[in-house]
Amino acid sequence: MRLKSKVALITGAGSGLGRAIALAFAKEGCAVGVNDLRVEAADAVVHEVRALGGTAHPLVADVADSRAVSEMLTRHMGALQSLDIVVNNAGIGVMEDHVRANVDAMIGDLVTTGRTDHVPEATSTMQDEHWRRTLAIHLDGTFHCTREALKIMEPARHGSIINMASIAGLTGIMAMPDYSAAKAGIIGFTKSIAREVIGRGVRVNAIAPGYIDTPLLDALSDTMKQSLIAQTPAGRLGTPAEVAATAVFLASDDASYFVGQVLSPNGGLYI
Ligand SMILES: NC(=O)c1ccc[n+]([C@@H]2O[C@H](COP(=O)([O-])OP(=O)(O)OC[C@H]3O[C@@H](n4cnc5c(N)ncnc54)[C@H](O)[C@@H]3O)[C@@H](O)[C@H]2O)c1
Repeated sequence: MRLKSKVALITGAGSGLGRAIALAFAKEGCAVGVNDLRVEAADAVVHEVRALGGTAHPLVADVADSRAVSEMLTRHMGALQSLDIVVNNAGIGVMEDHVRANVDAMIGDLVTTGRTDHVPEATSTMQDEHWRRTLAIHLDGTFHCTREALKIMEPARHGSIINMASIAGLTGIMAMPDYSAAKAGIIGFTKSIAREVIGRGVRVNAIAPGYIDTPLLDALSDTMKQSLIAQTPAGRLGTPAEVAATAVFLASDDASYFVGQVLSPNGGLYI
């Protein structure tokens, strides 16, 4: 029970990593505010937590919308009365259709011949709306939730914030410049505010997972999934539970001297 009597808010907790973190936190004795854009997804995870004997409350909001996030924090405090931990996890991983078609062709080439003429022109063809939506959810969303959380945590002189980055933010992923930029931005944001708020008792860290088996990867073709596994020295995708274990550690007092760090459960993909 490493998080006994704590209260967390987890964004994008209706699926994948956020869901796994919500369940892992609940097993450690933590009450969870379950944010998601999708009502049914948030409700389903709230039911799962309650079935474990835990406490959970659904918080439907778009993290890209600053006013909705402010209202969400008010609802969270009304329902759960406290905020010790925030996990900024909500995200999307979408490629524009014409890019995805070329990525498949590129990987097909690389798998069969080891070379390719199909490196997609992702950046020169990218629509403003696509770029903005990715940055708005990942980077603006992380900022919005962090700002509102700090209004509660700094006066309390206590808290832990965990931001979900990605291997994409450490190395850059071909054909996903928007996603890579957003995740690198989250790492820079994490390091900056970690220095700013540690003196007021709030620890901020990030997790940068490699490729993890969640619904986010369902949009990928089998060829692309096989290529991700082939790139990973561990020879498999990570599990949501492996990332959730990292989040439990960072949220707990075991990580009391971790400030502005980026932990990367990645199967040896990036060392
Ligand atoms: N799966 C991976 O391989 C992987 C690797 C590294 C980082 N990540 C990151 O982990 C996070 C979670 O990804 P996942 O794999 O669990 O994906 P997922 O698609 O399974 O879950 C993401 C959840 O976020 C929600 N969401 C999307 N936009 C939102 C918004 N604007 N407001 C609130 N909720 C919103 C979705 O409804 C969904 O339930 C993302 O930030 C992703 O970039 C994933």
